[in-house]
This record gives sequence, C-alpha cells and structure tokens, in this order.
Amino acid sequence: MCGIVGYSGPQNAVDILLEGLENLEYRGYDSAGISVFAGDGITTVKAEGRLKCLREKLNTSPVSGHCGIAHTRWATHGEPSDRNAHPHGTERVMLVHNGIIENYLELRSRLTAEGYVFKTQTDTETAALLLDSLYQGDPLAAIREMTRQIEGAYALAILFADRPGEVYGVRKDNPLIAALGEGENFIASDIAAVLSHTKRFFTLEEGEIAVATSCGITVYSPGGAPVEKKVHTATWDVEQARKDGYPHFMLKEIFEQPKALRDTIHPRLKDGLPSFEYDGIPECLFKGRGRIHIVACGTAMYAGLVGRDLIETLARIPVEVQIASEFRYRDPILSKDDLVVIISQSGETADSLAALRLAKQRGVPTLGVVNVAGSTIAREADYVIYTHAGPEIAVASTKAYSVQVSVMYLLAFAMARSARTLGEEEIRAKVEELLQTVEKLPRVLEQNDAIASIAGRFQGSESIFFLGRGLDWALSQEGALKLKEISYIHCEAYAAGELKHGTISLITNGVPVVAVATQEHLLGKMVSNIKEVKARGAWVLLLAQEGSPIDEEVYDQAIRLPKAPDLFTPLLAVAALQLLAYHTSVCRGSPTLRKEGRQGEFPKNS
Ligand code: M6R
Repeated sequence: MCGIVGYSGPQNAVDILLEGLENLEYRGYDSAGISVFAGDGITTVKAEGRLKCLREKLNTSPVSGHCGIAHTRWATHGEPSDRNAHPHGTERVMLVHNGIIENYLELRSRLTAEGYVFKTQTDTETAALLLDSLYQGDPLAAIREMTRQIEGAYALAILFADRPGEVYGVRKDNPLIAALGEGENFIASDIAAVLSHTKRFFTLEEGEIAVATSCGITVYSPGGAPVEKKVHTATWDVEQARKDGYPHFMLKEIFEQPKALRDTIHPRLKDGLPSFEYDGIPECLFKGRGRIHIVACGTAMYAGLVGRDLIETLARIPVEVQIASEFRYRDPILSKDDLVVIISQSGETADSLAALRLAKQRGVPTLGVVNVAGSTIAREADYVIYTHAGPEIAVASTKAYSVQVSVMYLLAFAMARSARTLGEEEIRAKVEELLQTVEKLPRVLEQNDAIASIAGRFQGSESIFFLGRGLDWALSQEGALKLKEISYIHCEAYAAGELKHGTISLITNGVPVVAVATQEHLLGKMVSNIKEVKARGAWVLLLAQEGSPIDEEVYDQAIRLPKAPDLFTPLLAVAALQLLAYHTSVCRGSPTLRKEGRQGEFPKNS
C-alpha cells in the first residue's frame, strides 16, 4: 500500500512529485523519497517520517529537474528509516516499488556473490540491483529479464541514468496506471496522485512496460510488441479516488482482503509447506513448546481465538488466549518452554506491548504478529511475522483480522509439522485448501448488495445476538464486536449451547439473531439451538455453507457461503459479517464511518 508517482514534463518534477505523494498520503506511510534527473545524473533524497521531513531536506538542499520518480513507503522489510526508504538503486538505475519480492533472499545472495553490496534491508533493493546487473543499454530488455527472475507482487517505476526524461513502469499483482497530460505524462500507483493535472489514464496489464516521456506514453506487451491502450477519463474527484470509488475506507478494506491474504500467505510457503524462513524464524521455535499463549486486544484477540482452535486441533499443543489488559496484571503462569504470541495490527497497543515486555522479563520467547513494520511490538518481540494487509485506515479492523487469521493457519500447520501430528502430505493438502478458500472469498464479496438489503432489517434493532459453535463461536465474537463498534447497536455473542443457561429470556419476539452455522460437523447441534431461539420469536439470519441441509422454517433469511472445509470457513464467514456490520452502520448514519480515514493521519485502530 505504498504510493508511487513518476513524472516527465516541463514543470519542476520535484513540485509535481511531492504534490502527488501528498495525494497518496491516505494510504499510510512511514518514509518517503524522490529521485530526479538533475544535472548529469540522478539525484535522490529520502527521509523517514512524514512528507514534511522530505520537504525540509529538499528545502535545505534544493533539487530540480523535469523528470523523476517518488514514493511513500509502508515498511514491510526493514524498519522505517532514511536508508530503507525508496528509491533504491545504483548510479545507473533507480526504482521505487510497491509489493513484495518473495525470492529476495535467494536473489540477494546471488547478487552478493556477484559483488553487489546491499545498503538496505529491503526486498526492493534486490530488484534494483538485479536490474542494474541486467542493464546493457536496452531498458526494455533489462526490465523484461528482471520480471522473469523476480517472484512476488510488484508495481515499479524506474529511471535509467542514461535515459533522461524517461520513466518506465511495470507491474504484477499490484496496480499501476499511466496518465496523459498536456505536454507532461505520469506513472502512478493510483489516479488520486495526479488528478489535479489530468483525468485521462489507463491501467497497465500484467507484464506490460510503459515508457512515459513529456511527449507521450508508449506501452509494450510482455513479448515486446507495442500495445494500443484504451484511455479512460476519471469521473472521480481526489477524495473519491483515494477510496478507489468506495464510499468508505472500511468497505474498500473489506474488498482488499483477497489480495491481503495472498500477500500474507504466499511468501510463507515453500514447496507447498509453511515456512517462516522469509521472516527469519527458525523451525525450532515451534518445537517442543509446552503451551502457547496468544495475547492481544479486541479484533486481534478474536483472531487469536481462531488460532487457538486451529493449533489445538492440528498440533495438539495447549493454547491460552488472553486479553492483553488482563494478562499483564494477573501474574500469568509462564514457563520457558512456552511461546507468547502477541497479535497487533498497529504494533503499538499499550496493553499488548506491556504483555510482550512481561513475557520477555520472564524469559519466555515472544513472537509478534504485526502489520505495521518497525512498530514497537515488531521491534521488541524476539521474532516477528508481518501481516501484509497494507495500511488499515478504517477504525473498524477488517483486513487486518483476516490476515492475522491466515497467519494462525500457517502457525498451526508449522506447529503440526514440528509436533508430527500431521504428515507432510497432510499439511500440503491443508495448505492447498487454505489457498482454495482464499480464492473463494470474492464470491462472498459479490453478495455485498444482498447483505446491504439484509442490513436494513437490523437498523432499528436495540440488541442483536450472535450464536455459534466451535470456530463459529470465535467468529461470532468478532462479528458482534464489528457490528456494535460501528453501528452502536448492543450486540452479544454466545456459544450456541450456552444461551439456554439463563439469558435466552432476552430473546423475545423479533429480536435479531445471527446464527453462524458454517461448521458442518456441528450442524445438528447448531440447528437445535437455532430452533430454541426461533421458538421464542427470534428473527434469524443464518450464515451457512451452500447446500447445508437446514430446514427453511428455522430461519428467516440466509447468507450462503461457498463450500469449504470446516477448518477454513472463518475466512469466508468473516467477510459476510463485516459487510453486515458495515451496511447496518451505513443505514444508521454511524458517526464512526463519517469520521474514518482523515487525510494525513497515520492509520491507527481505536
Ligand atoms: O492495533 P491492534 O491490533 O493492537 O488493536 C487492537 C484493537 O484495539 C483493535 O483490534 C480494535 O478492537 C479494532 N478497532 C476493532 O475493529
């Protein structure tokens, strides 16, 4: 979710590029940088922190030119710092990058053996030095060869020192557009960057290479043939463009989940098996653990609840999930062969950080599952797994939850492998099921309109109950939190078998009940629980897998999810619950949605 802008034209590129970066600030970032053709070569200026830090540097040592590239970085590999900020490269080649180069470790050792010296911890520098090593005076040939050798997701804007006035762009699994102005042209990660200059743009297809100069933009197919692009005219204003046309960041982020999941899972797979080599985590971290303590707050803690079921089921290691604000004050029983896992989107939540420090004081190994690179929890934990959700701007956490859950799957698989509770082939099959489930998620998102109309039924409710068993109970708790957090309706989640032990009297005529019934092996029990609330007059919204044999008389409306193994349905069901929360909130004109995503603020969950 970093931002890219490239410019070629008559104006001072530094001004245009900085303005473009300001328009991309909403995406979140922790450092920024710029490279411009100035004098005989390329001048690069980079600064950790907000854009004003970069501006200050440029004011102290002014640079000007008519062509350049710029970037706002959201750290994933290496802490936020001047050095790790983009652009990266050599005297001959400079580039900026959005995405993740998955095989960067392998490329890095190869390039090091060839004599290249790496100055940063980033995966991006690998692409830059690889490109330098391939460049023999033909930029298109070098870029094509680089794209053959790098694995992962990328959008790149590139300068070659001996081609002044030219900006090259190429992408795979990360967006990149080219925009046409009057005597000036642009490459950008999204149209919001350049809307004040032009509304005419086209998107680059995978592997296409664009060359922008002040005279025009030429595009070449992956095979090298010139391509005619259809030019679109944006009808959005800058504010709409920032949200990619979505009315709220929350909805945008819900829809970003398939990509966030792929970005998080794929780098941790090797030969079809989970591997945390990418994170520098040795396999022995998972061996011989007596107990796992998952500690977190709010949504992150609910992701931990899913993790508990997964690890206990697959690896047969006892897991405790604790609310960080309780854990830190209750003198928890910890042993040195335990592992404390702290889950946090921001990596800055005070209670989670205090829990981490407590575990470290007790000499227990700690593992952070964190979205914001360079955050305090990421820095202080013994090991860190970065979730690659990109910045989460909305107050309500959505994609961060899904990627946290995806890490729970990978951890459970890795622990099962270490504990030998599953054989390699069984784990490979589970990994495959996980990947297949992610690819079914768009089918849940397609039900957006149908879910919006169901939400209308909820908007006047005083109280909404969520019921589930097993993994569905863990999920119900997240569904209830999401709905109450942004709609301000009282919501409560119950283990379905528990409701009758007292509180079923709260279910009266017309009270909405969301029955999460995706666990087919618990279906019979769950249907009995649904019948209990139905008998008391509840209005039941059923969330179940397609084709699950549930008598139509026991529910009022249903959201059906694509079929998936029970173990993986949380990844699908949560999206439906998030959409339900979002649309209920929209119907009620919730102030939380109105406030969300103020420009220029760092994304930080409440
Ligand atoms: O940044 P963290 O993941 O540590 O934040 C923890 C909770 O504050 C957070 O998940 C909160 O519950 C969400 N805003 C809920 O949507």
